[in-house]
Amino acid sequence: MTETPLPDLEAILLVGGQGTRLRPLTLGTPKPLLPTAGVPFLAHQLARARSFGVRRIVFATSYRAEMFSEAFGDGAAFGLSLEYMTEETPLGTGGAIRNAAQALTCGPDAPVLVLNGDILSGHDIADQVATHVARKAAVTLHLTEVDDPSRFGCVPTDETGRVTAFLEKTPNPVTNRINAGCYVFTRSVIDTIPAGQVVSVERETFPGLIEDGALVLGYADASYWLDVGTPAAFVKGSRDLVLGRLVSPALPGPPGDFLALPGAMISAEAKVAGGSVIGARAIVESGAQVSGSVLGDDCVVDSGAVVVDSVVGIGARVHSGAVLRDVIVGDGAVVGPGNELLAGSRVWPGVVLPESAIRFSSDI
Ligand code: GDD
Ligand code: MG
Repeated sequence: MTETPLPDLEAILLVGGQGTRLRPLTLGTPKPLLPTAGVPFLAHQLARARSFGVRRIVFATSYRAEMFSEAFGDGAAFGLSLEYMTEETPLGTGGAIRNAAQALTCGPDAPVLVLNGDILSGHDIADQVATHVARKAAVTLHLTEVDDPSRFGCVPTDETGRVTAFLEKTPNPVTNRINAGCYVFTRSVIDTIPAGQVVSVERETFPGLIEDGALVLGYADASYWLDVGTPAAFVKGSRDLVLGRLVSPALPGPPGDFLALPGAMISAEAKVAGGSVIGARAIVESGAQVSGSVLGDDCVVDSGAVVVDSVVGIGARVHSGAVLRDVIVGDGAVVGPGNELLAGSRVWPGVVLPESAIRFSSDI
């Protein structure tokens, strides 16, 4: 990691999305607050930003805005100063940045970090900021490579790193290099986004800047990167943090095969591994197998049940002989004995699946 390049760097964190793809987990909790490797997802982002010299963060909130300040308060526990700016109706990514910028204290030439609130990234934020400042760019975008760029913002660059186009969710991507959701803006550039209206930074602001000849720079690297917007990615993010594949200062304990939160009771005859989290006071009985999964607080996995790459909600129960693979079980739900739930199945909160009611659902 590079040493802090600039004192008192300010950031804007975009957390106003509804997280629809993660339902039912996000019915009551915004995506950035879902427990991930034992702490709210954002705790990992906040701690990483802090480690790179960010001292003040403005949350751009909308959906369930009050839950963010309840979770993080003034930020003192993280060594940060936190502010909250709320859009009454969502203003889109660009409108949210413009709205949140009212709470910035820096001058027009200062760099401002902007983070999507659902990203785990191992890249060197300080080096991205230093590159932005050295090249006097208007905006510098962190870029990463993925197998399927059509689900992201496709970002071709020239040999100097200059971004030549920004193609959001295009069916015909021209490169595998995509927008990784971490930007450095020169403050005065944020002030050019129209205020009080819905603006997409991806569909309007970036293409507009490129067309106007502003220097939009790509900062490409190959470090760990994940958007946790889907159930499978969310579970992967949690297990990668627990296993130490991405180092997080917010991980409550050393990296290892699994993380047991206070009061969790795991039978010596149970098999728990693969970066699983066992929630506070949760019970895993003898002969149960839990791998690569997130078990919520107070849930119970009975003897002989198998839970792989899945989320089991708070207070939920998985009965003996049930098998879950790549499944989300909502809070308080009950999976009766012998059920086999596979790829993409979701059990809504409080639902009781009776014994042996076998379901092979792909999605809901
Ligand atoms: N405050 C606020 N208001 N935040 C919003 C709003 C809004 O109206 N709309 C979205 N956000 C926040 C979300 O909470 C999330 O943190 C971030 O903006 C991005 O929204 P997503 O819904 O997660 O977008 P995406 O994953 O489909 O695409 C974005 O991220 C990709 C990287 O993961 C784009 O920026 C793509 O270009 C990028 O490749
Ligand atoms: Mg996303």
